Amino acid sequence: MRKKIVAGNWKMNMDLAEGLKLAEAIDTYFKSKASKAEVILCTPFIHLAGASEILKNGSVHLGAQNCASETSGAYTGEVSASMIKSTGAQYVITGHSERRSYYHEEDKLLNKKTLLAVASGLKVIFCCGEVQKERESEKHFEVVSKQLAEGLFSLSPVDFKNIVIAYEPVWAIGTGLTATPDQAQEMHKYIRGLVSGKYGKEIAEDLTILYGGSCKPSNAVEIFSKPDVDGGLIGGASLKKEDFIAIVEAV
Ligand code: PGA
Repeated sequence: MRKKIVAGNWKMNMDLAEGLKLAEAIDTYFKSKASKAEVILCTPFIHLAGASEILKNGSVHLGAQNCASETSGAYTGEVSASMIKSTGAQYVITGHSERRSYYHEEDKLLNKKTLLAVASGLKVIFCCGEVQKERESEKHFEVVSKQLAEGLFSLSPVDFKNIVIAYEPVWAIGTGLTATPDQAQEMHKYIRGLVSGKYGKEIAEDLTILYGGSCKPSNAVEIFSKPDVDGGLIGGASLKKEDFIAIVEAV
């Protein structure tokens, strides 16, 4: 059976002390109460080493939100995948819509980052999703298909096993609008079909596909009940311990 995952994407929130306090609270909770889903905290870079120390004996996993497209060298301000790995983190997010839109990260660059992250021993949460205009003009399948083909499908089948896909309709991120459970299911099924076409049925069936975009305790159960929705990538609601735990428990 494929793995269920709930990942928190803290984005650019919380100073070091606040972030470590939240990591500790979540770690403590899941030490006393096992969850059915794998829990991942994707923190800002500055929290990784400290959070890794806090999480090392528990069940909660750790990830970064971005990585460099180069291995090392004169790239002021960048953080490489192997540096992330060296903190003890196991995951990195690539292709988040905020990276695509604010930092102009395109499929080719995201492909480079993703390949490098996997080569560095990280698992990758690769995000895809359409903007509102694309949904309105019914181009959403085409858009997601292109993002996957150009960003991901150059990976070998062996490397692809380190991939989690997050479908995040951009119009639902941080807006309070959520895709309906049926809209999420329709796209997740489509994505699984694309992966099956490229890598075969077995790999596609094993692939964890997360939904992201204004996921909260009040809508998580319904969205996660869909057969191709294997958990969530949670932004705003991952900053509140109670909300995040409730979403994990919705799986
Ligand atoms: P949101 O963000 O839950 O705040 O909508 C999700 C994401 O961007 O990963």
